[in-house]
Amino acid sequence: MGSTQIAWSEAMEIGHPRIDQQHKKLFAIADMLVNDGDHMRVMAILASLSEYVQVHFREEETLLAELGYPDLAAHKQAHDAFRTRLAKLYANAGGMLLGRIADEVRVLVNDWLANHILVTDRDYAKYLKPPAKE
Ligand SMILES: [Fe+2]
Repeated sequence: MGSTQIAWSEAMEIGHPRIDQQHKKLFAIADMLVNDGDHMRVMAILASLSEYVQVHFREEETLLAELGYPDLAAHKQAHDAFRTRLAKLYANAGGMLLGRIADEVRVLVNDWLANHILVTDRDYAKYLKPPAKE
């Protein structure tokens, strides 16, 4: 308990400061969740994780639309799949043991989300405008 189990890594950097910040925050919330031993708090953290995932995906989808990213539809579908899985977990978590909730969150964030950032998000990085020169 208390040690970092779910962590963003530099390999996941997209190069868009706001998006990178949001990705980091998602990992931080998930890490807080798997390290908490109180069911009520875990439910509250799961609620804020779900809420922040919505905020982040919405913002990312808006950004991709602005960039004219050609694979936006497929990217949105991937986000929807994650939204559905997270909503299902939240719906069931009230009756689940903490260890199982933590396992599910590890799979969702450490596996699914990490892989999504490394592969699917990485693909739109080339459409980002380079930072303005001073
Ligand atoms: Fe994404």
